[in-house]
Amino acid sequence: MTAPHPQSADPVKESGGVPAPAHVAIIMDGNGRWAKARGLPRTAGHREGVEAARRAVEAARDLGLSYLTLYSFSTENWRRPVGEVRDLMGLLKQFIVDDLPRLKKEGANVRILGDKQNLSPDIKALVHRAESETAGNSAFHLQIAFNYGGRDEILRAAKAIAAAAADGVLGAKDIDEGAFKKFLDTGDAPDPDLVIRTSGEKRTSNFLIWQAAYAEYVFTDVLWPDFDETVFREAIDEYCRRERRYGGVGGGAR
Ligand code: IPE
Ligand code: IPE
Ligand code: MG
Repeated sequence: MTAPHPQSADPVKESGGVPAPAHVAIIMDGNGRWAKARGLPRTAGHREGVEAARRAVEAARDLGLSYLTLYSFSTENWRRPVGEVRDLMGLLKQFIVDDLPRLKKEGANVRILGDKQNLSPDIKALVHRAESETAGNSAFHLQIAFNYGGRDEILRAAKAIAAAAADGVLGAKDIDEGAFKKFLDTGDAPDPDLVIRTSGEKRTSNFLIWQAAYAEYVFTDVLWPDFDETVFREAIDEYCRRERRYGGVGGGAR
């Protein structure tokens, strides 16, 4: 299923409410608070957060999603204490090592969003492995935003476009939304229909700021390590009760 297009006449949308989302993106927040509430170090929260991410991937497949995008480390998260950053890097590596075989077997296509340039060589190699070994898959798309920032992504796209223009490959008149989008890390992936943020915070924190321009947002107070299929279903149910208008007047207008 593809995401509803702004211009498309969608019978479900017309009657209020929308079809189930094809692409859900999640801002996985609240690991630190989950740990603190238990008198545990923040790392323990991040470890539980990885388990919640595994549950989310499984649930996404059960729920029939085509795309799941998980925000796991932002360009701003480098501001955290060195030890915490090291733990988060280690958990990404462990996740790829442990889960890649299963993801491959299940036909998942894995893509890492974010700036890969300044990642350590071992992470770069694992990221490359995850992407190249799943490149031909299309049963399900898992995008992991790691060392990702929406502004950074747009700047890198702008630089790449400027370089293409300098090479004479692109002219100013060729740069429309469709052409620009191809330079983003998400490439030709559909925009997220729904963005879920856990932990009660109500902000984007630099996540998919281009792609989520018309996404629906659902905020839940559940802390990320407690996220499960029930919470996921509730968020999708809330999404399905929304009316997406894309700047138009919607189905109920007279
Ligand atoms: C989300 O949990 C994980 C990352 C941002 C890497 P946090 O670590 O932000 O948890 P809180 O917000 O401090 O509770
Ligand atoms: C957003 O969470 C980034 C990720 C979930 C990876 P943060 O915890 O870093 O966001 P702020 O600092 O509360 O905005
Ligand atoms: Mg946080």
